This record gives sequence, C-alpha cells and structure tokens, in this order.
Amino acid sequence: MKHFLSALDVDNVSTLVDEALALKAAPWSHENLGRRRTLGLVFFNPSLRTRLSTQKAAQQLGMNILSINVGLEGWTLEMEDGAMMNAGKTEHIKEAAGVLAQYCDIIAVRCFPELKDRDYDYQETVLQKIIKYSGRPVISLESATFHPLQSLADVMTIREVSRVKKPKIVLSWAPHFKALPQAVANSFAQWMQYVDCDFTITHPEGYELHPEMAGNAKIVYDQRKAFEGADFIYVKNWSSYSHYGQILSEDPGWKITAEKMALTATGNFMHCLPVRRNFKVEDAVLDSPGSLVLQQAHNRVYSAQAVLKRILESQYG
Ligand code: CP
Repeated sequence: MKHFLSALDVDNVSTLVDEALALKAAPWSHENLGRRRTLGLVFFNPSLRTRLSTQKAAQQLGMNILSINVGLEGWTLEMEDGAMMNAGKTEHIKEAAGVLAQYCDIIAVRCFPELKDRDYDYQETVLQKIIKYSGRPVISLESATFHPLQSLADVMTIREVSRVKKPKIVLSWAPHFKALPQAVANSFAQWMQYVDCDFTITHPEGYELHPEMAGNAKIVYDQRKAFEGADFIYVKNWSSYSHYGQILSEDPGWKITAEKMALTATGNFMHCLPVRRNFKVEDAVLDSPGSLVLQQAHNRVYSAQAVLKRILESQYG
C-alpha cells in the first residue's frame, strides 16, 4: 500500500480488519517498525478523534510526529497551477507539499470539501496536489469525498459486535441545519460493498449519494421501514449530491429516537462523532447499551495503526 485514500487502496478489506484487530490485542507488537520515521499530520479543518487516534497509532509504532493546523497556523495556500499570486494567497501548494516531504516520511491530511464546486471536490484537488508535489505516501484523514480511517474502524466495530453472519446494516440520514460533506456517508457505503451484509440507505428524496458510492445498496425513503429488523443503524447527516452542497430538508421527523431504535433487532447505534445530542439523536439512544460510538472512536487508533503499519512495511521495510 502506498496511499490510503479509500477502500480502493486496500487489496483485501477483511485481511486489513484482521490486522487492525490483532493490533488492538497487542498494540506495542511493532513498536520499532516506525523508528526514525516521521509522520506529518496536516489539518486544514478541526478534529478531535482523528488527530489524537492517529497520533497514538503512530506512537505505538515508534514514529515521530509533526503536526500543523494549516487552516489556523499555516500560510494561505494557492492550489491553482500557473496562478498569478498577486492577491491573498501566500504560498503555492507546490512548495508547501515539497517542503513537507523534506520533513516527513508519510503525510496524513484532513481537507474537507468547500461544497461549492462538485467537480473540484470530487476530483480531490487538494489531496491529489499534495500527493503529486510531495511524492510521499499520503493518508486521508477525511478528504472531500471519503473518510477511510473512520470506515475501517466502523467495519472493525461491526465485526466485533455482530452476532449474525450477514447483518442488516442501515445508513440513515438525520437532520442538520448546516450543509455537511458527503464524505462519511460515501465512505461507509463504499466499505459496505466489501462486507457480507444486507445494506440499506435511508434518506429523504434528493439526498441520493454518488451512484458509485451507493453501489448496490437498497434505497428506502421510509426511515421506520428501513429500521425494521436492522442489526446496525449508522447515522450521519450529509448535504445533497445532486443539488450539490444544498440542504433540501431539515425535517425533525428524521431524528433518531428510542422509539425508532426499538424497531431494530438489536438497538445497535453507530455514529462517527461529533454528534449534536437531541437535535440529531436523542440522549436515550446515545446513552443506551446499544450505543457503539465510543467503541468506534477506540477502534480509530487501530485502524490508523494498521494503515501506517502497511505503508511502513511496503514503502520503508
Ligand atoms: N470522527 C471523526 O473523524 O472525528 P474528528 O472530526 O473529531 O476527527
């Protein structure tokens, strides 16, 4: 593995999950693998889980870590090749990425979409330029269109908790007053294509994901119907893909309630966090025994560790 941008960079998802679970059982088993190697953590956007879990993962492999909040502390970056830089932007991504490569063996990047220009976002312009101009292995810490470390942790969690061979898994849209990226939903749907499951997506009309992300998922517009008999409910808000970046519904009727969770087979509730309590999901659900949100967050350490381990072994072994 050179880069980790989506499930497409993984030769065998099930084996990677095995590896992440093995690291969870023995976190220090490869504590010298990353010795004298440096991981650069580059954040264009805020984070709690991704930043700390990836840092912990790197430490458990013996790596050094350099971290920058570009959005807060860095120079403003020009992304356009051939740009005349006589206005607000201070540094070109060409130099910035090249400089990062002088200090880091692996570069991990968080760069959310602007949700203005669908082509610009779906071409992963920022991530691709960092790959091109750094020449280093790059890990997505959530990009414009995917959040693969989250999805790997989610698949681990499902593997740990599922009591049936082929679970019914439902990705449900929930309301939000702000336009949010499609990355987590895209990514979860993409990774579900590599899991033996019965996968349903439920959302109001107009919130259909990119067809390649949705794959063969069953689309059900009636949320209650979708929840019936489910083994896992994965909740996320996302803005429209077809009416790109727009909010088409704020219907509070899509909020996740204990009454809806009672329709499921298990009450297992998943969310990547952060989540707005009682706006998107009731306290009674988040505080229930079926809430898996902290287990998902815990697994973020080992999803990052498995990916770093693979890249260290293949690129620097
Ligand atoms: N789930 C997740 O990526 O959390 P952060 O945005 O806090 O990193």
